[in-house]
Amino acid sequence: MTDQPEPFDLTSHNILTDKTTELLRIFPEIRTEGGQIDFDKLKLALGQTIDVGRERYGMNWPGKAECFKIIQAPSLGTLLPCPDESVDFDTTENLIIEGDNLEVLKLLQKAYLGKVKMIYIDPPYNTGNDFIYPDNYTESLQTYLEYTGQVDSSGKKFNNNSDADGRFHSKWLNMMYPRLYLARNLLQDTGLIFVSIDDHEIDNLHRICDEVFGESSFVGILTWITTTQPDNIGRARFGLQTNIEYVLVYSRCPSIELPPFVLASKGQTPKYPHKGRYGPCRFEIIERAFDGAYARPTLRFPILGIMPREGKQWQIGEKTARDLEARGRLEIVDRIVKRAVYPEDEANEQIGLIPFWSYLEKVSTSQAGKAELTRLLGSNHGFDTVKPVDLITEFLSHIPNDSLVLDFFSGSGTTAQAILEANKLDNGKRRFVLVQLPAPLDPDIVQQRTSVQYLDSIGKPRNIAEICKERVRRAIQKLNNAEAGQLPMNEKQDRGFRVFKLAESNFKGWDAQAPQDVKVLEKQLELHIEHLREGRA
Ligand SMILES: C[S@@+](CC[C@H](N)C(=O)[O-])C[C@H]1O[C@@H](n2cnc3c(N)ncnc32)[C@H](O)[C@@H]1O
Repeated sequence: MTDQPEPFDLTSHNILTDKTTELLRIFPEIRTEGGQIDFDKLKLALGQTIDVGRERYGMNWPGKAECFKIIQAPSLGTLLPCPDESVDFDTTENLIIEGDNLEVLKLLQKAYLGKVKMIYIDPPYNTGNDFIYPDNYTESLQTYLEYTGQVDSSGKKFNNNSDADGRFHSKWLNMMYPRLYLARNLLQDTGLIFVSIDDHEIDNLHRICDEVFGESSFVGILTWITTTQPDNIGRARFGLQTNIEYVLVYSRCPSIELPPFVLASKGQTPKYPHKGRYGPCRFEIIERAFDGAYARPTLRFPILGIMPREGKQWQIGEKTARDLEARGRLEIVDRIVKRAVYPEDEANEQIGLIPFWSYLEKVSTSQAGKAELTRLLGSNHGFDTVKPVDLITEFLSHIPNDSLVLDFFSGSGTTAQAILEANKLDNGKRRFVLVQLPAPLDPDIVQQRTSVQYLDSIGKPRNIAEICKERVRRAIQKLNNAEAGQLPMNEKQDRGFRVFKLAESNFKGWDAQAPQDVKVLEKQLELHIEHLREGRA
């Protein structure tokens, strides 16, 4: 010990570093290899054009610059409510939206900005047989209307992306990049995104996610076994049968700022099943018997005005009790004082942290996922890319049980089923937003015939969004049936969903592409005298 005063830090606060850090936080895609700002990329992100002649580190592909135009082009669409296809339309907070997810993500930006805790997506893997949505920033809604046959059913033919196509990977990247970019805005600061993928595009996906979310937001790659039955078709080369898939995980903010993952593995009770003053927590008993050699009169004192019950003493001393009390970690639950343990407490104290393995050993296979859907629908469905419910449940175990979850490649709606079932298990209040293209199904395409037969048998239109809605209706029905006749144990759960469909805006758009000739201009002006489209309120 000396009597020298503590030296002052005479260096001034580096405002420039702060500003650079803030810019990199807002636009992770502008980070250079050395952690500085790539001003050309910043210009692109802000919608300005740049000369792309100079060499720089980063990923490039034909059409990347166009992606920024696609991101910035405002949507001309709207979401029309469909109460007849919904369940509990007036009260539910869950949504199933039918439409192209690019347009829908744009329409969700205002209402859901920074509100989503978890995104799970299972996009087309670009296997050579997938349909890759053809974005077009000058007429994206028009493309959608043509694709879904709402405008011109005879017109354009939409083909699958074949690996013989010279722009095979670029097309996929051009589809994925704007969607990931827009999705990131919707995540909360502590939000997570889980993206399913296989070995066709994992490298490209990893690199664009590094760019969109920032390398420091990379959390890890999870793997799981998709099949135990070799089929020796498709890509089996040299007898090698691919039986694993990956899930890339990124956080909205640098992953270092996240509380560590805690995992409630399959079969375990959730780690934070209770609702404390500050959110999900675990209430622990702090009383023990006051008898024999363990009896300590000093451990009998009031906490929150309550003494330990007859024949009991506290497990903690008065100093610890006052500290916990001051931090709001003691609560009266059913007239007993209990300790509330929150995830962040365990993160700080490093106790009770269950390791979270990147190999998801206990998750079921895709075959099990398909069989689950068959049982629920009571019929073969022909839907081939179903994920097992417990894969999604695994991800849900990393977020609080009142989170909003988004899945914008929802397919048959596995995510909704996982959420409804998880809520039943821990009386949670998770909500979902699903987005699914009403991708038309054609009975002349062998792989789609069973789906068409199923939809015909229940009198529904022939598209994938119908399979999704029907699955969620049945999942709800099944949960409700299982509880029929029982006394309600908990508050009524949200077991509904509102259906919305992407359509042209209620307001007529201004056609900026129209030739600038006086007659055409007059016609446009006339059209805009009455802004609202016919038949819309
Ligand atoms: C691999 S599947 C998802 C399967 C889903 N995880 C499940 O368990 O059923 C991908 C889905 O994304 C849909 N999709 C593809 N492009 C889309 C787009 N632009 N907008 C919305 N959905 C799209 C496809 O129709 C397909 O149903």
